[in-house]
Amino acid sequence: MRIDIVSLFPEYFEPLHLSLVGKARRDHIFDIHVHDLRQWGVGPHRQMDDTPYGGGPGMVMSADVWGTALDAVHRLGTQAGNKPLLVIPTPSGVLFNQSLATSWTTQTHLVFACGRYEGIDSRVAMYYSSQPDWAGVHEVSLGDYVLAGGEVAVMAMTEAVTRLMPGVLGNSTSAADDSFSLPGGRVEGSVFTKPPIWRDLEVPAPLISGNHALIAKWRAADSIRRTHVNRPDLMRDLP
Ligand code: ADE
Repeated sequence: MRIDIVSLFPEYFEPLHLSLVGKARRDHIFDIHVHDLRQWGVGPHRQMDDTPYGGGPGMVMSADVWGTALDAVHRLGTQAGNKPLLVIPTPSGVLFNQSLATSWTTQTHLVFACGRYEGIDSRVAMYYSSQPDWAGVHEVSLGDYVLAGGEVAVMAMTEAVTRLMPGVLGNSTSAADDSFSLPGGRVEGSVFTKPPIWRDLEVPAPLISGNHALIAKWRAADSIRRTHVNRPDLMRDLP
């Protein structure tokens, strides 16, 4: 997979050289290329925004600048028949979740367009969703809150997607036991390590019993308990 990220603040993505994602990049499981949007800005000041039609506060990023940027990034990633999927982070998009992350792992080329200010002229999403040499457009929100721009959302989405790609997690770690991948999409239960007693708090007995069936039963029950307490919205999906 090739991932291109276009942003006014490329430095935001330096941490993608670290840890699991950094190692997977060095292992050539996927490539990440970060581009400064400013290079496609217009005029001596490399302008890339303008006032919104209809009035209102703030500035809107111009379709012209994004069109030039996205066409250029499309060309960079063109290998036989690869069609990029364009992802535009925005608080007004569909909610990002584990199943969307999983569906992106089979794409050959992901392009993330990070908006700032009041967002990107809506014709950009309209245009690229109708282009046959693109795999489509997803406008996606990280959650029900407003960030200062798309960068932090793209960091989160990139990590969520890439850790699911074959070879990124070691053999001993499986994404199948992750929250939202468990049956019914429930969250993971509590975890413990040594010592068995810490500040008078004991590790639940089943976990130190050595009985695998008992351990699995305790974990399933604890995961349902936690889902009930922390994520009652997910309970209706449980079998
Ligand atoms: N940009 C600003 N807020 C955002 C959010 N919640 N999700 C994705 N992109 C955003």
